[in-house]
Amino acid sequence: MAKHTVVTMPGDGIRNQVLPEALRVLQAVRFDAEYIHADIGWEIWRNEGNALPQRTIDLLTKHKLGLFGAITSKPNKAAQTELKPELQGKGLVYYSPIVTMRQKFNLDICMRPCPGFIGNPLNYIRKKVDGDGGKPGFDEPRIDTTVFRQGTEGMYSGIEWTNPPENVRAALATHPKFKNFATVPGPELAVSLRVITKAAARRIVTAAFEYAKRRGFKGVTICEKPNVVRETSGMMEETAKEVAKNYPGIALWSTNIDAQLMWLNKNPEDYNVIVASNLFGDILSDAFAGLIGGLGFAASGNIGDEVAVFEPTHGSAPKYAELNPPIVNPIAMILSAAMMLDHVHEDEKATRIRQAIADVVKEGKVRTYDMMRLPGGPKAIGQGAASTVKMTDAILAKLK
Ligand code: NAI
Ligand code: MG
Repeated sequence: MAKHTVVTMPGDGIRNQVLPEALRVLQAVRFDAEYIHADIGWEIWRNEGNALPQRTIDLLTKHKLGLFGAITSKPNKAAQTELKPELQGKGLVYYSPIVTMRQKFNLDICMRPCPGFIGNPLNYIRKKVDGDGGKPGFDEPRIDTTVFRQGTEGMYSGIEWTNPPENVRAALATHPKFKNFATVPGPELAVSLRVITKAAARRIVTAAFEYAKRRGFKGVTICEKPNVVRETSGMMEETAKEVAKNYPGIALWSTNIDAQLMWLNKNPEDYNVIVASNLFGDILSDAFAGLIGGLGFAASGNIGDEVAVFEPTHGSAPKYAELNPPIVNPIAMILSAAMMLDHVHEDEKATRIRQAIADVVKEGKVRTYDMMRLPGGPKAIGQGAASTVKMTDAILAKLK
């Protein structure tokens, strides 16, 4: 029997382009695992009216470890019209299966590392103030940021209404600030609740500090907006201050989300660990990913006490799903698999994978279309881009 069992959930779109590549790499480092396929995503919604079927939930409950590709998500109207005819008009409601999965298994620690690889032509560069000997000169600061995004609540708690029911309106009306909205007709009023709980805030901040301690970083940045969003961001920041007391050697810095997005264009190398609530963390992790190569390099883990699911942060990239040969960058998916190895304490294998990727990027001979800033499409390979499979082959060659 294999030492580990991994529930593989390819999903939609480029699923079968990227997930099998990660499995090839896991095999190459001799990760002792058995893989069980599970259904998730838009196709399953269309055919069954549920994007995260119970059998997938059961498999995750049993095996506790998941590797997920990407899903397609469309607005409500498309969700209804694309349902198979027998299921239409039955009042089925589409929910994002990844958001549901995070909530169902309390995968509240969303960890999104954004490490810059030396030699990546997409890395952030910065103009030197006084140039280089009279000529314009550039710095390429070493970025190594990991965003800890609270994964289950905040703006994504899913408690929202257009045309809130009467009792909700009545409850809202007890707040003095609601006066300004009191006369807005129901169908013209939309409300999304931003919920923060102390326990979840404590968990995400603690995860950030534990990581900083492991990596020997000097500080953790809490990125919120407590001066305006006083209650929820206030609770995040207060909790961060309390947790920080348990880590005397690590500083707690505080930034506001708007200013932080400005700072990351000026001195991104100063931020190694950032912790934020759900929406802000989502924004921050994409923003930092943009500095180190974009979606082709952005991996993530959704980690709960029992279950953990690892996935690239990119979506299903439907416009590239049918290309043959496939052209998308498999690195984000492969880095997600490496994070899964970290999680199950296969550190040496994870390190080897990351080193092999670093070697390929540094060497610069094999680059997918995104790394060459080419328009993605059927012509990319003819223009010198490596296919998805070639990129994985190059990584495998470094693992030998
Ligand atoms: P996307 O991430 O699929 O694509 C955005 C852009 O990044 C595209 O131009 C694509 O070509 C590029 N890209 C994505 N993955 C890449 C890779 N591995 N290598 C190179 N380039 C890559 O996001 P988009 O287009 O906004 O959404 C497409 C679908 O994916 C939607 O249905 C959306 O709801 C869904 N989605 C799913 C996510 C998930 O499964 N966790 C996350 C984000 C979007
Ligand atoms: Mg996102």
